[in-house]
Amino acid sequence: MTANAFGGGESAVVITEGAVPDDDSLMPSLENLELPLAPPGTMGPPEEYNWLREHAPVTKLSVPAEFNATIWYVTSYNDVKSLLADSRLIRPTINEWPKIENQPEDIGTPLVTMMEFNGPQAIALRRVVAEAFSAKTIQAYRPRMRAKADEMLADLAKRGQPGDIVRDYTEPFPLWVMCDLVGIPFDDRDHYLPLADAALGAMQTWEQGRNSTKELYRYIRSIIEKKSRRPADDILSRVVHEWKKGTIDEEAVTAFGLSMLVAGYRTTTMFLGNSLLLLLSTPSRYAMLRDERHRLPGAVEELLRFIPVLNGIVVLLATEDIEYNGKVIRSGDAVLPVIAAGNRDESVFPGADELDLCRVDNPHLVFGRGAHNCIAAVLARTEMAVGIEALLDRFPNLRLTDGRPATWDDSAPAKSPITLFVDW
Ligand code: HEM
Repeated sequence: MTANAFGGGESAVVITEGAVPDDDSLMPSLENLELPLAPPGTMGPPEEYNWLREHAPVTKLSVPAEFNATIWYVTSYNDVKSLLADSRLIRPTINEWPKIENQPEDIGTPLVTMMEFNGPQAIALRRVVAEAFSAKTIQAYRPRMRAKADEMLADLAKRGQPGDIVRDYTEPFPLWVMCDLVGIPFDDRDHYLPLADAALGAMQTWEQGRNSTKELYRYIRSIIEKKSRRPADDILSRVVHEWKKGTIDEEAVTAFGLSMLVAGYRTTTMFLGNSLLLLLSTPSRYAMLRDERHRLPGAVEELLRFIPVLNGIVVLLATEDIEYNGKVIRSGDAVLPVIAAGNRDESVFPGADELDLCRVDNPHLVFGRGAHNCIAAVLARTEMAVGIEALLDRFPNLRLTDGRPATWDDSAPAKSPITLFVDW
C-alpha cells in the first residue's frame, strides 16, 4: 500500500459546505507550511489551495519533527497531472516511507499493492484484470448492483426515520459491491476493515499502519489459498487461475488482493457520502436530479471533480534528482500531487469552487494519470450513479434531518461524514 495522507480520529463536529475564499489574508507561511487540512466541520477543501496554486504551486511542506523527509506539495492542475504520470517518481510502501527518527529496526512487511508494484509483472497483472473492470463487464453487472442498493434502502426504510445513511448505505454498499465482484468475504469485514483503515491512515498514524501489514498479508493469502482450492465465479479466482497458468506470478496475485482491501471501496464510500450531503444540503440539487435523470452521468463527474477527498492521498518518491519548474526535487524527496487541488484549478474549470451539476467540459484528475491510474474508474462511476439513482427512486423527497447535523473526523486529511441522518 502506498504511503498516504489519509487520517483517522474520533472528534465529531457540525458541518457546513466549504467555500474557498481566494484572498491574501489566507497567505500561508511558506516557511512553516503544514499539510493543509479542511476547515473543521466541512469536507474541505483546505483554504490554502487557491493561494498556493497561484503563488507557490510546487512548495515544500514542513513535516513533523520525527519524520526524516522532504515533501513537495503540488496544487496546480498541470503540475498534478504531469507528476502523477512521471516515471521518475515511484510509490513508496507505508513501511518504507516516511523514515522516522529512531524508528524500530523491524519496519513490518512492506505492503505492496498494485500501486507499489512496477515492471513487467505489474503490466501483466493490469492486463489480466482489465476485462473484469471494463465498461462492458460493469454494464452487465449493473442490475445486480442496483438490486443490492434497493435491498439496503428497503432495510433502511424498515428501520424507520430518521435513518443514518452513512452507516446503512454509503458505507456498506461500495464494500459489498467490491466483495461480490472480487470474491472477498463481506462477512469478514470486522476483521479486515480496521486493518485496511490503519494502512490508509499510515502517514498520520504510521505505527498502527505498519503494524497492520503482516495481518493483511496473512488474511489475503488465506483467501487466495481458498480460491486455489475451490475457484468461484469471481475476479480473484480468475487472477489465481492466471497465476497457475503462468501469466503472472504469486506476488502479483497478492498485490491484487491487497489492492482490493485498501483501494477497493473506501474512496467510493467517502465520495458517495459527501455527494449525498451536497445534494441534500441544497434540496434543489436533489430535486433536479430526481426530475431530470439524463443529468445524472454529468452530475457524477462534477461531484467527483468537486469533492476534495483526494487531499494528499497519493505520495510519490523521486528516484533521481528532478528539475521541475525552477525547483530541484532531490532523489529521495517525496512529492504530493494534490488531486483535489488540481481539480479546483480555475484555469481549467471556470467557477472551480462552484458545484455545477450541469458542467459540460470536465477533464478532472480524480482517477489519476499514467501507469497507476485507477483500474476501476468505470466501476466507481457506476457505483456513484447507481447509489444516487436508487435513492432518487426510493425516496423522492429525501431530506436532511432537522437538528441532526452531519458529524466529521476533523483530524483526517480526507473527510466524509461519519454520520448523516435523513428523513423521507
Ligand atoms: C470514487 C472512487 C475512486 C477514486 C476517486 C479512485 C481514485 C484512484 C486514484 C487517484 C488512483 C491512482 C493512485 C496513484 O496514482 O498512485 C487509483 C488507483 C487504483 N484504484 Fe481507484 N479510485 C476509486 C475507486 C476504486 C475502486 C472501487 C477500486 C476497486 C474495486 C479501485 C482500485 C484501484 C486500484 C487497484 C488502483 C491501483 C492501480 C495501479 O497502481 O495499477 N479504485 N484510484
